[in-house]
Amino acid sequence: MSFHIALSFEDGLTRFIESNPGETVADAAYRQGINIPLDCRDGACGTCKSFCEAGRYDGGSYIEDALTDAEAAEGYCLTCQTRPESDLVLRIAASSDLCKTKAMDVDAEVAWVRPLSDSTISLALVVDGAARLSFLPGQYVNIQVPGTSETRSYSFSSKPGAELATFLIRNVPNGLMSGYLSDRAKPGDRMTITGPLGSFYLRDVRRPVLMLAGGTGLAPFLSMLGRLAEEGGAGHPVHLVYGVTHDSDLVEMETLRAYAERIPDFTFATCVADEGSSHARKGYVTHHLDAGHLNAGDVDVYLCGPPAMVEAVRVHFRDQGVTPVNFHYEKFAPSEGSQR
Ligand SMILES: Cc1cc2nc3c(=O)[nH]c(=O)nc-3n(C[C@H](O)[C@H](O)[C@H](O)COP(=O)(O)OP(=O)(O)OC[C@H]3O[C@@H](n4cnc5c(N)ncnc54)[C@H](O)[C@@H]3O)c2cc1C
Ligand code: FES
Repeated sequence: MSFHIALSFEDGLTRFIESNPGETVADAAYRQGINIPLDCRDGACGTCKSFCEAGRYDGGSYIEDALTDAEAAEGYCLTCQTRPESDLVLRIAASSDLCKTKAMDVDAEVAWVRPLSDSTISLALVVDGAARLSFLPGQYVNIQVPGTSETRSYSFSSKPGAELATFLIRNVPNGLMSGYLSDRAKPGDRMTITGPLGSFYLRDVRRPVLMLAGGTGLAPFLSMLGRLAEEGGAGHPVHLVYGVTHDSDLVEMETLRAYAERIPDFTFATCVADEGSSHARKGYVTHHLDAGHLNAGDVDVYLCGPPAMVEAVRVHFRDQGVTPVNFHYEKFAPSEGSQR
C-alpha cells in the first residue's frame, strides 16, 4: 500500500511525500527530491534518526548504537530502515534548507469573504491543484495580500482535504490584510499562498486533550476538530476552552455545537474577558480550567491565540505547578512587515 508521509522540518516547514509499497521513508523522500540526512543507509550510524509524531511503521533492522531500545520505545525511528504501515508524521532533525527543499507556493482564488462579527472575518479560498497543498490540522500558511508584496500568516480553520480552504481572521484596525478583506476583497480575486508551516498540529491522541483558544486562535482547533469528527473521535476526552474579549467576538458557535454532537467525548466552554459582559463565564481561559481537565498533568495541552494570552496561560500553568505531558502552542504574533 502507498502512504502519505508528512516530513516536518526543524524550521517549521512541512513537506508531504508518498511512499510506494514496501519502500523506506528515506528512499521515498529522495525519490521525491527531499534529501533528508543519511549516511550509512544501513541502520548502523543513526544519522537518519527521526521522531514519529503519528502513525504506524515497521522499524526494520539496526544496531543499538544507531537506535537504542529506549529511543525506539519513545517513538524514534531510522528513516533508512522505516517502512510505513499507515500515514506518518515524522519530525526530521534538520532544516528544510539542509534537506534541499522549501515551502510550496500555490495560487488560490477567493471563494467568499464573510464578516462573522465586527471583529472577525471568514475567508474561503479555492486552491489551484488543492491536492498539492496537504497540511496537518493546526498548521498555517502565509497568504499574500493582493496588490502588495506583503504576506500574513493564517491557520487553516478547514480540515485537511476540505473542498475550500477556510480561515478565521481578526479584523485589525488599519491592518493591511484586514483592510483588504473588509474593503476590497471579492470572489475571484487571486492570491498566492505559501506553506504549509508550523509545528502546531494535532499529534496522535494518547491521553486527554485540553485545547485553549484565544480569539481567532480558534481557527486551528476547528481544523483539528474537523479531523477528529472525520475519524469518529479521539478515543480520549477532548475539552476546548474558547476565550474572547467581548461578547460579539464569539464566533462559529454553531460549528462548535455541531462538533460537540458529532465527536464522542468532545466538550467545550466559552468565556468572555470584558467585565461588562453578561456571559455566564467571565474572565480568561485560565479561570475556567478545572482539575478534571488538567487530569493531574496527564494531558496534552494545545494553546493558540495572541502572544499575551499564550504567555499568560504558560505562566499560569507554571505557577500552578502543572506540567502537562505535552504542551504545544502557537502565538498569533503580528507580522514583521506590520512593524515597519
Ligand atoms: C503562525 C501565525 C498564525 C496566525 N494565524 C492567524 C489566524 O488564523 N487568524 C488571525 O486572525 N490572525 C492570525 N495571525 C496573525 C496574522 O498573521 C496578522 O498578524 C493579523 O491578521 C494582522 O494582519 P493585518 O495585515 O490585518 O494587520 P497589520 O498590517 O499586520 O498590522 C496593523 C497594525 O496592527 C497591529 N496588530 C497586528 N495584529 C494585531 C493584533 N492581533 N492585535 C493588536 N494589534 C495588532 C500591528 O502591529 C500594526 O501596528 C497569525 C500569526 C502567526 C505568526
Ligand atoms: S543512515 Fe545510518 S542509520 Fe540510517
